[in-house]
Parts: sequence; structure tokens; C-alpha cells
Amino acid sequence: MPLNEQLTQLETHLSLHIPNVVPTLFCETLIHYYEEKAFDKSDTDSAEFILTECMPWLSEEPLNSLLKVYFNNGYQIIGSVFDALTPEDKDYLSTTWHLDYGVNRSLKLFIYLNSVEEHQGNTLIIDQYRSELLRDAGALPLDLDKRKEDLSSEMQSLGVSNEALGYDLKAGDALLFSPFLLAHRCLLPAPGQKRYTVCFTLIPS
Ligand SMILES: [Fe+2]
Repeated sequence: MPLNEQLTQLETHLSLHIPNVVPTLFCETLIHYYEEKAFDKSDTDSAEFILTECMPWLSEEPLNSLLKVYFNNGYQIIGSVFDALTPEDKDYLSTTWHLDYGVNRSLKLFIYLNSVEEHQGNTLIIDQYRSELLRDAGALPLDLDKRKEDLSSEMQSLGVSNEALGYDLKAGDALLFSPFLLAHRCLLPAPGQKRYTVCFTLIPS
């Protein structure tokens, strides 16, 4: 998709699937590194290594130009997280519907190191219109204990569709979206699978 179309989609829908941000082979190497605990490093060191290896890909084209144009005066990375989730990670906080809170025009950039097709652990998104309705109806509370995995009855009461958007992300693809305007949740991987993702929070500088 040409840059201007990507930008239009991002500005209009506040989410965008960008294929091939990190080469697939590189993703496989990073996963292997993590699983083999190369050089006897701890999980934390391995996560740090993976984040450091992934960050330079944000400065590669076409993502670099897209971020430059979207953020106009540049951006800062204020958060970076590597996750290797299993189906047993029930305490993972982001599996319930929520909005993040922070600076306007911020974006979340997820890089999937293995494909959704493989593990089914997608990130689901609800469009801005329905996210606002849900927020105004109190269905997207800050309080972690009050968040829900299923908002279909709330959406039914509001008279809107309960369909969520999930992109078919392949290994190395990125998902870019506004976490403050679009309600979202992450799915845990299917039994026997693992979901490896890197997530950067970008704010205008
Ligand atoms: Fe979030």
C-alpha cells in the first residue's frame, strides 16, 4: 500500500496493518535466541536484547516515512515490552477490553514475531465510534477488576455490532493503532502455542 494510502487509513481508522516490518527469518532467530536462552542470559536480558534488535526496524522504510509524516515533528518511544505469552498466562492484563490513557495522537506499534495464523493470539480492536459509545456507557473502566473479556451484551444494548477487527498478522508484520481512541484486547495463544510480540508506545515529541 503506498504511503499516502497508509497515512489516510491510519488517520481515518486509527489502525493499520503494515506487512514485513521485520524480516521473517530475523523474527525466527529472535524467538530461537529467547527460547534457547543464548549465552545463559536471564529472560529479562533476552527481552532487552530482542527489543534492542527490533527498534532499528522502525527507522527502515516504509515505516520510517509513515511515522515521520504522522508525527510531523518526530516521535519518542516511551515504552517497550517484549511478551512471550502462553495459554496459561491468564493474569496478563491486556486480555480484557480497555483503552490506554496518555498523550493525544500516541500510537502503539505491535510487531508480531510469529504469525496469528500459528497461535491465534491476535490483538482485537473496536472502531472509534463504538469505542466512544462503550466508554461513555462505562463499559471500558480503568479499574482492572471491572474490565471484561466480552462486551457483546453492552454492544447489543447500545444497538451496535459486536464485531471486532483483527488483522491477519504474519511473522514480522506490525499493527499500528491508537490505544487511547480504540478499545482493544489481546487474545492468549491457542493450546500448545506461544505468542511472541514486541510492543512500542510512540508519542509525539
Ligand atoms: Fe492497551
